[in-house]
Amino acid sequence: MSISRRLMLLGAGSAALLAGLPWAVGIGAPVQISAERRVIDVRGRAAGVSGLRQLDGTHGARFAAGSRFQVALTNRLPEPTLIHWHGLRPPVEQDGVPGVSQPLLPPGGAHGYDFALRESGTYWMHAHHGLQEQTLLAAPLIVEDGEGRDEQEVVLMLHDFSFRDPAEIFASLTSSGMQPAGAAGGHAGHGQAAAGVPHLNDVEFDAYLANDRTLADPEVVTVERGGQVRLRIINGASSTNFWIELGALVGELIAVDGRPVHPVMGSRFGLAMSQRIDLRLRLPSPGVFPLLAVREGDRRATGLVLRTPGAPVARLEENLAEAAPALFALEEERLRALNPLAERPADRRLTIALTEAEAAYGWGMGGEVAGAMREYEIAAGERVEIVFENRTGMSHPMHLHGHAFQVMEMNGRRFAGAVRDTVLVPHQGRVTIAFDADNPGAWMAHCHNLYHMAAGMMALLRYS
Ligand code: C2O
Ligand code: CU
Repeated sequence: MSISRRLMLLGAGSAALLAGLPWAVGIGAPVQISAERRVIDVRGRAAGVSGLRQLDGTHGARFAAGSRFQVALTNRLPEPTLIHWHGLRPPVEQDGVPGVSQPLLPPGGAHGYDFALRESGTYWMHAHHGLQEQTLLAAPLIVEDGEGRDEQEVVLMLHDFSFRDPAEIFASLTSSGMQPAGAAGGHAGHGQAAAGVPHLNDVEFDAYLANDRTLADPEVVTVERGGQVRLRIINGASSTNFWIELGALVGELIAVDGRPVHPVMGSRFGLAMSQRIDLRLRLPSPGVFPLLAVREGDRRATGLVLRTPGAPVARLEENLAEAAPALFALEEERLRALNPLAERPADRRLTIALTEAEAAYGWGMGGEVAGAMREYEIAAGERVEIVFENRTGMSHPMHLHGHAFQVMEMNGRRFAGAVRDTVLVPHQGRVTIAFDADNPGAWMAHCHNLYHMAAGMMALLRYS
C-alpha cells in the first residue's frame, strides 16, 4: 500500500499523522485506535464513558510477539488526551506520558507509534492525562506468544465505576478534610484506620465492572467441559485492589504483569491496581462457574461466568456474605520469575520514601508532595535497586515505566521474585525492586492509584 493511500484510509487525523509517521518505511498498516466517547449500561442507567476502539469496534488491540507495535492513535474526544502502553518498553518518546514523552494530542489530533514488541504477555493501554483513566479510557493490549496451544482465551478487564465526574471525586477527597490514613484522626467517614491496620479504600464507587458489566448482568462465556482456558485478568480500576476468586475451580497462575512465573496453584489471587495475572484452568464438570473479583476490604464483587454448553445461569449475588481481607505481601513472596534478571550486584541503590501529608489528601515520593516531582539521575547500563519505603497507612501499587523489574525483597525478606511492572508496597512496608537501565530516557515511577498519583505520588527516573 502506498503511503498516500494509507493516509487516505487514516481519514480525519491524517495531516497530524505526518508528524509522527514512523511506519512510512515499515511493513504493515498500523492498527488504528481511537480514543472516543461511548455509552454503557450500568444498572439500567446509561453511562457516558470513554474507550479505545478500533474501526471495527474492537476494544483494545492484539499483537504477535516479535512483531512491531504499529498503531495510529486518533483523539476523537472533545478534550486533549494521551495514551500510555502500560507494561510495554517502548523508546521513551513513544511512552505516552504528556510532557515527558510527547505533548498531549488535541481533539482531532493523531499520532503514529512504531516500536519492536520485545515480549509476549497481558498488558493494557490507558489515558495518562488528568483523571481520564477513571472514565474507562483504557483497554486490553495483548501480545500473543504464538505458541498455538489448544486453549480458549478469555480476557477479563476490571474497572471501578462512578456516575460522578472524576474531578468531583478528587475534589471531595482533597477538600472534605479527609486525611490520609496515618494522619491524626484517620480518614473522616471511613474510620477504623487504627494503628497497624491499613486503610483500604478512598473512594466509594457506584459499581465494579468486569468487561464493562456488573455481576447482576455478567458476561457469560461458554467453555467446553475439560477444555483449557487461559484467563487474562487486567485490573484497570483507578482506585481498587481486587481478590480474584475462582470458587470451585483451581487455577494455575502462569504469568504476572505479562511475564511468566513458576506456576502457582490456587483459587484466590490478589490483583492490585494496574496489575495483570494470567491463569490457566479447566472446567472439571458440566455447570456454571462464576469468576469473581471482590474489592479488598469489602463484600462487593464483579466478575463473569464460565459455563459448559447449555448450563443455565442463575442470578448472582453482588454482595458476598463476608468482606474480603486486605491484599497482603505473602502473595508476592510466593512468586518466582521464569526468566529472572541475571544475578548481579546493584550499581546504585535508591531509597524512595512514600509519604502522606499531615493534614490534607496529599501523597508524595522521595520527600516531595503534590506540586513538585522528585527527579532521580541514574546511568545507562547500571543495575539499579529501588527500595520503596512506605511510611503511610495505605498500600501503594508502585509502577515503573519503560522497564520490567524484579521483586527482590519484601519487608526484610530477600528472594528472587517475579519480574513485573507494578508491585504492591504494603502499608508501613518496604519493597526492593531491581532493574537494568537499558532504555534511556525520563521515566515515571508512580503509585497507580489514580488519586494518589494526582495528589503527588510520582517521581521521575532519568538517564541518557
Ligand atoms: Cu499504567 Cu504511569 O501508568
Ligand atoms: Cu498510592
